[in-house]
Amino acid sequence: PVSDAIVFFGATGDLAKKQIFPSLLGLVRDEGLDAPIIGVAKAGWTLDQFKARAKESLLSHGALDAKAFAKLTSLLRYVDGDYNDPSTYVRLRHELREAKRPLHYLAIPPSLFATVAEGLAKQSAGMDPRLVIEKPFGRSRESARQLDRILDRFFPEENIFRIDHYLGKEPVQNILYIRFANSMFEPIWNRVHIGSIQITMAESFGVQERGKFYDETGAIRDVLQNHMLQVLANLTMDPPTGAEYDAIRDQKADLLKAVRPLDAANVIRGQYVGYQSAPGVKSDSTVETFVAAKLFIDSWRWAGVPIYIRAGKGLSVTAAEVMVYFRKPPREAFAEIDAAGSGHMRIRISPDVSIAQGLRVKRPGETMKGEDVELVLTEQATAFKPPYQRLLGDAMLGVGELFGRRDIVDAQWRIVEPALDEIAPPIPYALGSWGPDEANQLIGPDGPWRNPLPPVLGP
Ligand code: BG6
Repeated sequence: PVSDAIVFFGATGDLAKKQIFPSLLGLVRDEGLDAPIIGVAKAGWTLDQFKARAKESLLSHGALDAKAFAKLTSLLRYVDGDYNDPSTYVRLRHELREAKRPLHYLAIPPSLFATVAEGLAKQSAGMDPRLVIEKPFGRSRESARQLDRILDRFFPEENIFRIDHYLGKEPVQNILYIRFANSMFEPIWNRVHIGSIQITMAESFGVQERGKFYDETGAIRDVLQNHMLQVLANLTMDPPTGAEYDAIRDQKADLLKAVRPLDAANVIRGQYVGYQSAPGVKSDSTVETFVAAKLFIDSWRWAGVPIYIRAGKGLSVTAAEVMVYFRKPPREAFAEIDAAGSGHMRIRISPDVSIAQGLRVKRPGETMKGEDVELVLTEQATAFKPPYQRLLGDAMLGVGELFGRRDIVDAQWRIVEPALDEIAPPIPYALGSWGPDEANQLIGPDGPWRNPLPPVLGP
């Protein structure tokens, strides 16, 4: 059954402004959303101020669709109150009126999850509410488990939706689709044919106005533990068996359980020069804004295949890309082969999308010399549904397959945990570079790193 109201906590915050309002407008415009939308925050605001924020948010994303906006504002309601004050939830209950299955979206710091979950539970008699939570889910494996125990007291697992917005991205879903909708890839998708994998998520901007949040988080918790490992799982998991609900997440969980916990010697942490003077950041912060890691999957399929993941802010471009490198032919038929590539698959996740198969072809001429070419399988600008719109729509339908799951999140923490202790201070790197040189030493002869190019297609 579809949720009959959306409540979002943190309604005056950054995430609401950047992601939630545009997604709600999309749901109204494209998917006929027609349920009350109730913002909750402690800002001393009125409903009119809240509507003005919605407008401001939408305008910052481009021209306003007047008809959809009028519809959206007619659905908006607002409850102002402290999350610790029981009367906030009484007023929320009142605003929910006849709703029976509200979707509560907690776009708030995780330290408040328990308070809000409890407040909601006390006012949910006769309802079957759903809960959407935003990462980070805890700060470590243990704190994530603690969070689960708290949520367990109030919500059944099937009503909890853990957002990892990377899963709402088309190309991330396409990794699975391409792999399993074609039979040609599966026979070569293993240690026999694949020599190494690289995943890069580069951002050319710094921490912007999120300094305080980021300085408590760092690149490992912010994107490696979740987005990057989700991409890794889509690339390497076994095919789902059957079409049962959760068949994909089951395989993904198995894969992640087979990933060897990071060896601290295989992790390079970096910090861009200037980070410590960003607003909200401690002047002696040792939080990493860059991480490069070498991982292994201890399975028959992947034994011995190194997987390199790199993510950072203040880098040379903003782009996320995957490279799957195929092994060289077993014998050098042509004298040049040592210097040459040997085929790859390239999956560009953002900002533009492309999936390309890289091959060697002979260059015209007398000699048997070749070049790397790419057969582009698909190429798109960013014209697809924003991830948050897809995910909120799914959560309203109660479909959880594009969300994290308790065992998956736990397995992800298990992988990164050894790298969470800041053993050595991060290595400084220049803004606009590709991170510290030590990342090149980490990849060594499996490299070089493939640096994603700036986007070619316009937005
Ligand atoms: C978020 C991180 O989850 O993902 C941010 O907290 C990061 O630090 C963002 O910038 C990147 O997402 P996207 O979709 O803009 O590439």
